[in-house]
Amino acid sequence: MSKNRVTRRQFLTYTITGVGGFMAAGMLMPMVRFAIDPILQTKEEGDFVQTSQKAAEITEVPVKVDFSYEQTDGWYKSEVSDAAWVYKEGDQIVAISPVCKHLGCTVNWASDPTHPDQFFCACHAGRYEKSGVNVKGTPPLGPLDMFEVSENDGFLMLGKKIANTHSN
Ligand code: FES
Repeated sequence: MSKNRVTRRQFLTYTITGVGGFMAAGMLMPMVRFAIDPILQTKEEGDFVQTSQKAAEITEVPVKVDFSYEQTDGWYKSEVSDAAWVYKEGDQIVAISPVCKHLGCTVNWASDPTHPDQFFCACHAGRYEKSGVNVKGTPPLGPLDMFEVSENDGFLMLGKKIANTHSN
Protein backbone atom coordinates (compact mmCIF):
# COMPACT_ATOMS: atom_id res chain seq x y z
CA MET A 1 0.00 0.00 0.00
CA SER A 2 1.28 3.54 -0.91
CA LYS A 3 2.39 5.93 1.84
CA ASN A 4 0.80 8.87 -0.09
CA ARG A 5 -2.69 7.57 0.29
CA VAL A 6 -5.24 10.33 0.97
CA THR A 7 -7.14 9.79 4.16
CA ARG A 8 -10.90 10.19 4.37
CA ARG A 9 -10.37 13.32 6.55
CA GLN A 10 -7.99 14.89 3.99
CA PHE A 11 -10.36 14.06 1.10
CA LEU A 12 -13.26 15.75 2.90
CA THR A 13 -11.11 18.78 3.77
CA TYR A 14 -9.98 19.22 0.14
CA THR A 15 -13.50 18.75 -1.19
CA ILE A 16 -15.11 21.20 1.24
CA THR A 17 -12.36 23.77 0.64
CA GLY A 18 -12.71 23.46 -3.14
CA VAL A 19 -16.50 23.66 -3.20
CA GLY A 20 -16.46 26.51 -0.68
CA GLY A 21 -13.94 28.39 -2.83
CA PHE A 22 -16.10 28.03 -5.94
CA MET A 23 -19.19 29.20 -4.04
CA ALA A 24 -17.34 32.22 -2.60
CA ALA A 25 -16.00 33.14 -6.06
CA GLY A 26 -19.51 32.82 -7.52
CA MET A 27 -20.84 35.29 -4.95
CA LEU A 28 -17.90 37.73 -5.01
CA MET A 29 -17.37 38.05 -8.78
CA PRO A 30 -20.66 39.89 -9.50
CA MET A 31 -19.94 42.25 -6.57
CA VAL A 32 -16.43 43.01 -7.84
CA ARG A 33 -17.75 43.45 -11.38
CA PHE A 34 -20.43 45.88 -10.14
CA ALA A 35 -17.87 47.86 -8.13
CA ILE A 36 -15.49 48.42 -11.04
CA ASP A 37 -18.11 48.61 -13.83
CA PRO A 38 -17.52 52.32 -14.68
CA ILE A 39 -13.82 51.58 -15.17
CA LEU A 40 -14.69 48.88 -17.73
CA GLN A 41 -16.94 51.19 -19.78
CA THR A 42 -15.47 52.73 -22.92
CA LYS A 43 -15.07 56.48 -22.64
CA GLU A 44 -16.53 58.82 -25.27
CA GLU A 45 -14.73 62.01 -24.25
CA GLY A 46 -13.91 64.36 -27.06
CA ASP A 47 -16.94 63.32 -29.11
CA PHE A 48 -18.80 66.00 -31.02
CA VAL A 49 -22.49 66.65 -30.43
CA GLN A 50 -24.72 67.28 -33.42
CA THR A 51 -26.81 70.46 -33.25
CA SER A 52 -29.85 71.49 -35.28
CA GLN A 53 -28.00 74.58 -36.57
CA LYS A 54 -27.28 74.51 -40.32
CA ALA A 55 -23.69 75.61 -40.86
CA ALA A 56 -24.59 77.52 -44.03
CA GLU A 57 -27.03 79.72 -42.09
CA ILE A 58 -24.42 80.95 -39.63
CA THR A 59 -23.50 84.60 -40.25
CA GLU A 60 -21.19 87.08 -38.58
CA VAL A 61 -23.96 87.90 -36.08
CA PRO A 62 -23.85 85.57 -33.05
CA VAL A 63 -26.86 83.28 -32.58
CA LYS A 64 -27.55 81.07 -29.58
CA VAL A 65 -27.49 77.34 -30.33
CA ASP A 66 -28.99 75.01 -27.73
CA PHE A 67 -27.87 71.39 -27.64
CA SER A 68 -27.92 68.41 -25.30
CA TYR A 69 -25.93 65.24 -24.77
CA GLU A 70 -25.86 62.19 -22.51
CA GLN A 71 -23.37 62.30 -19.66
CA THR A 72 -22.22 59.26 -17.71
CA ASP A 73 -21.04 59.82 -14.15
CA GLY A 74 -20.19 56.47 -12.59
CA TRP A 75 -23.44 54.47 -12.79
CA TYR A 76 -25.59 57.57 -13.33
CA LYS A 77 -26.54 58.66 -16.85
CA SER A 78 -28.15 62.03 -17.39
CA GLU A 79 -29.17 64.34 -20.22
CA VAL A 80 -27.19 67.60 -20.06
CA SER A 81 -28.45 70.77 -21.74
CA ASP A 82 -25.91 73.33 -22.92
CA ALA A 83 -25.69 76.27 -25.30
CA ALA A 84 -23.18 78.18 -27.41
CA TRP A 85 -23.08 81.55 -29.13
CA VAL A 86 -22.09 80.83 -32.72
CA TYR A 87 -20.93 83.14 -35.52
CA LYS A 88 -18.66 83.21 -38.56
CA GLU A 89 -15.26 84.86 -38.56
CA GLY A 90 -14.28 84.79 -42.23
CA ASP A 91 -14.68 81.12 -43.24
CA GLN A 92 -14.28 79.91 -39.69
CA ILE A 93 -17.17 79.11 -37.37
CA VAL A 94 -16.60 80.35 -33.82
CA ALA A 95 -18.56 78.91 -30.88
CA ILE A 96 -18.41 80.79 -27.59
CA SER A 97 -19.58 79.46 -24.22
CA PRO A 98 -22.31 81.58 -22.63
CA VAL A 99 -21.08 80.90 -19.08
CA CYS A 100 -19.78 84.13 -17.55
CA LYS A 101 -16.25 83.88 -16.14
CA HIS A 102 -17.14 86.05 -13.16
CA LEU A 103 -19.69 83.97 -11.24
CA GLY A 104 -21.20 81.74 -13.90
CA CYS A 105 -24.31 83.62 -15.04
CA THR A 106 -25.39 83.37 -18.68
CA VAL A 107 -24.18 86.04 -21.06
CA ASN A 108 -26.26 87.31 -23.98
CA TRP A 109 -25.31 88.96 -27.21
CA ALA A 110 -26.18 92.65 -27.65
CA SER A 111 -28.50 92.75 -24.65
CA ASP A 112 -26.93 95.97 -23.33
CA PRO A 113 -28.26 98.83 -25.52
CA THR A 114 -25.20 100.95 -24.74
CA HIS A 115 -22.84 98.22 -26.06
CA PRO A 116 -24.72 96.50 -28.90
CA ASP A 117 -21.60 94.79 -30.29
CA GLN A 118 -20.66 92.94 -27.12
CA PHE A 119 -21.75 90.05 -24.95
CA PHE A 120 -23.37 91.26 -21.75
CA CYS A 121 -23.84 89.57 -18.39
CA ALA A 122 -26.77 91.12 -16.58
CA CYS A 123 -25.78 89.75 -13.15
CA HIS A 124 -23.01 92.31 -12.49
CA ALA A 125 -22.80 94.17 -15.81
CA GLY A 126 -19.91 92.08 -17.12
CA ARG A 127 -19.03 92.67 -20.77
CA TYR A 128 -17.10 90.73 -23.40
CA GLU A 129 -16.00 91.54 -26.92
CA LYS A 130 -17.55 89.48 -29.73
CA SER A 131 -14.44 87.27 -29.58
CA GLY A 132 -15.32 86.41 -25.98
CA VAL A 133 -12.44 88.43 -24.56
CA ASN A 134 -13.46 90.20 -21.36
CA VAL A 135 -13.70 93.99 -21.37
CA LYS A 136 -11.25 95.45 -18.86
CA GLY A 137 -12.88 97.32 -15.99
CA THR A 138 -15.91 94.99 -15.83
CA PRO A 139 -16.17 92.13 -13.29
CA PRO A 140 -15.04 89.15 -15.45
CA LEU A 141 -11.28 88.55 -15.20
CA GLY A 142 -10.93 86.14 -18.12
CA PRO A 143 -12.32 85.44 -21.60
CA LEU A 144 -15.31 83.21 -22.29
CA ASP A 145 -14.44 79.61 -23.18
CA MET A 146 -14.87 78.36 -26.72
CA PHE A 147 -16.15 75.05 -28.11
CA GLU A 148 -14.36 72.91 -30.67
CA VAL A 149 -16.42 73.02 -33.86
CA SER A 150 -16.97 70.64 -36.74
CA GLU A 151 -19.58 69.95 -39.42
CA ASN A 152 -21.61 66.88 -40.33
CA ASP A 153 -24.03 66.76 -43.28
CA GLY A 154 -24.20 70.55 -43.27
CA PHE A 155 -25.02 70.76 -39.56
CA LEU A 156 -22.87 72.31 -36.86
CA MET A 157 -21.18 69.91 -34.44
CA LEU A 158 -19.85 71.10 -31.10
CA GLY A 159 -17.03 69.42 -29.20
CA LYS A 160 -15.44 69.98 -25.83
CA LYS A 161 -14.79 73.37 -24.28
CA ILE A 162 -11.37 74.86 -24.89
CA ALA A 163 -9.59 78.00 -23.73
CA ASN A 164 -10.39 81.10 -25.77
CA THR A 165 -7.90 81.42 -28.60
CA HIS A 166 -8.55 85.12 -29.24
CA SER A 167 -6.36 87.79 -27.69
CA ASN A 168 -7.01 91.45 -26.94
S1 FES B 1 -21.60 86.64 -13.13
FE1 FES B 1 -21.32 87.70 -14.97
S2 FES B 1 -20.63 89.62 -14.32
FE2 FES B 1 -20.89 88.57 -12.49
